[in-house]
Amino acid sequence: MSAPAPASSALLAWYDRHARELPWRIGPAAIARGERPDPYRVWLSEIMLQQTTVAAVKDYFAKFIAAWPTIEALAAASEDDVLKAWAGLGYYSRARNLKKCADAVMEGHGGRFPHTAAALRDLPGIGDYTSAAIAAIAFGEAVPVVDGNVERVVTRLHAIDTPLPAAKPEIRRLTAAMLDPARSGDFAQAMMDLGATICTPKRPACLHCPLRDGCRALDGGDPERFPVKPPKKAKPVRRGAAYVLTNRDGAFLLEKRGTTGLLAGMTQVPTTGWTARTDGATGTAEAPLPGADWIGCGTVTHVFTHFELRLDVYRAEGDMLPAAHQWWSAADTVGGEALPTVMKKVLGLAIAHESEHDLT
Ligand code: ADE
Repeated sequence: MSAPAPASSALLAWYDRHARELPWRIGPAAIARGERPDPYRVWLSEIMLQQTTVAAVKDYFAKFIAAWPTIEALAAASEDDVLKAWAGLGYYSRARNLKKCADAVMEGHGGRFPHTAAALRDLPGIGDYTSAAIAAIAFGEAVPVVDGNVERVVTRLHAIDTPLPAAKPEIRRLTAAMLDPARSGDFAQAMMDLGATICTPKRPACLHCPLRDGCRALDGGDPERFPVKPPKKAKPVRRGAAYVLTNRDGAFLLEKRGTTGLLAGMTQVPTTGWTARTDGATGTAEAPLPGADWIGCGTVTHVFTHFELRLDVYRAEGDMLPAAHQWWSAADTVGGEALPTVMKKVLGLAIAHESEHDLT
């Protein structure tokens, strides 16, 4: 085996001293003693960390490990309970795939994750990035692991002018050329830590960077110019109305969304369709209990991947028999429902409006 690239040695020496202590890691010293992290924890953390930050994930990770410490336990859980525990973390298809993947590992692999990126890639919810991350970190496979942090580090090191995503194959190739095959998991996480703590999007701390000697972006004097991004397209706006109905016990009328599409299987208050038409229904015509005294509370804005949603929020008091997919949720249990963030905002606005107007 050829010697690792000098940049890799400098990076790993830095990681040995500065690795972040994270609940799914066992640290470079334990790895050097021949220990390996628990693949279940590595997998769970990598699914949670897709499109999210370490800070946002930590509490969710602790909650999941406490509820389901092993893959057997997670496979035995109901999808509803997994969605409830995931509520607020976003991109809910990840939670549904998490459960499907746990089932697939139990049923098709005897409860053990496969050891290679190629085999991991066949499991639900595991794509190119996640398969590489699990294979490198949990099993030591020498594959390049490229997330947003790594893209930033590598485009700066090589001053890559090609914009993303066109630059991805080149970034992957350069990462593969740089990695130390004997420490591929440490290398992957060292690159992530460097990107998260030193080679940051704004005001990178180049003075403290173990790779500053070979960094062409630093030589050019403007590291923040990389990665080069294509011009941003404005997101389309969709509109709708959401209806917060409370009964005389203070319970909220909730319902389950359909089983496909955006936020499938999650919980919401009754709402109109979310339409791109400017004359879309944002009034109370579609409210449950049309005879109730519906009061406008304001508008909630939430940005999804492909559009921005503006929901006009109304509240009313009244009683009704819930439809088959609806139920009343008491004020002290509503926090544990599988409410996506947009619906937490809707309820928050209605509750704030009510307390403000009760006081005046
Ligand atoms: N982001 C994604 N995976 C990560 C990991 N294992 N450590 C730190 N940040 C990450």
